[in-house]
Amino acid sequence: MRTLRVAIAGLGGVGRATAELLLSRRARYRHIHGADVRLVAACGSQSGLSDEEGLEADRLQRLENGLTGPDFIAASGADILIEAGPSDFRTGGPGLAYIGSSLSAGRDTIVISKGALIHSGRRLRDLARDSGAYLKLSGAAAAALPTIDLVEHSLKGCEVLEVEGILNATTNYLLDAMTTRGIGFDEALLEAQQGGFAEADPRNDTEGWDTACKLLILANFALDADLTMADVAVEGIQSVTADRINAWRREGLVPKLVGSLKRSDNKFRAEVGIKAYPPADAFANVHGKGKAIRITTDAMGETIAIGSGREPLATAGAALKDLEHILTARIPKTRPE
Ligand SMILES: NC(=O)c1ccc[n+]([C@@H]2O[C@H](COP(=O)([O-])OP(=O)(O)OC[C@H]3O[C@@H](n4cnc5c(N)ncnc54)[C@H](OP(=O)(O)O)[C@@H]3O)[C@@H](O)[C@H]2O)c1
Repeated sequence: MRTLRVAIAGLGGVGRATAELLLSRRARYRHIHGADVRLVAACGSQSGLSDEEGLEADRLQRLENGLTGPDFIAASGADILIEAGPSDFRTGGPGLAYIGSSLSAGRDTIVISKGALIHSGRRLRDLARDSGAYLKLSGAAAAALPTIDLVEHSLKGCEVLEVEGILNATTNYLLDAMTTRGIGFDEALLEAQQGGFAEADPRNDTEGWDTACKLLILANFALDADLTMADVAVEGIQSVTADRINAWRREGLVPKLVGSLKRSDNKFRAEVGIKAYPPADAFANVHGKGKAIRITTDAMGETIAIGSGREPLATAGAALKDLEHILTARIPKTRPE
């Protein structure tokens, strides 16, 4: 039985859900992967806890001040880092230092926040390549909706020609509510905020930045593009009026905020904006907090995935899918005698 030590940096809703799900799956990791997976460290911005024998869920309620930061994670002896801190694509956020230090040390790293991947994606990819560490990103790339995995596993070997994605659940909810129930943007937003799935400051979602981040992560990490935020034309939904919604309804079209990539001359053009779909299109039927992706390839035609899940559990599930990919790759299968 191989022992694998995991640390989690960032203990908000997603970090805690990830810790709990990981601990609840320990028997599975033993049985399927032959791995004794231990949570040896966890921290927030001010406090944390570590124990090389492994932490249990109840101990995460009693963090100790001062136990935090990339050096704290390194000292815990973790083999794998799961980073779940705040996202800030303009500065890279606190995740940048954790991810950089982890990859430099050759530690396999599962990233859930998007900021560092946008701010310093190329450097982080180079660090992972040079140290041989895995850098896994499902939680940052639309989480429960498979995006990177579709390209890297299901469509392996194909050339991706075009991608379209409804990548942000909040904006899909807002546009869906405005279209199907005829309510205004402000009313729909208040409803989403009261339901706890739109931020008090919703601009990162409504102005299209979150969709742009996920699109860039997919483009750069799965399709080997080299795009920055400056390369993406970004339009949000914040100024969609009732008149515009009514015009789409009259034409029998359903508006969606979509991130898209188009290959031409071996480069990708990226944009985020509203597209309106006829009712028979799969995208027109993605309702509420749903997400979807359509990938067109040279050999396998069009592939569509539609997915969503209850947050923060769904994002925790995506990060731990990455963990299982790492366990499969790192632990050699032994053949029964
Ligand atoms: N929520 C979702 O449904 C969802 C889905 C996909 C991806 N994500 C991404 O997942 C990440 C976490 O989301 P969340 O909802 O859990 O956010 P959150 O509740 O705001 O939690 C963020 C956590 O990061 C911690 N943190 C801040 N600075 C830190 C530092 N320097 N070192 C260690 N920890 C630090 C905070 O610590 P303190 O508590 O001490 O301030 C807090 O525990 C975000 O990047 C988000 O974009 C979220």
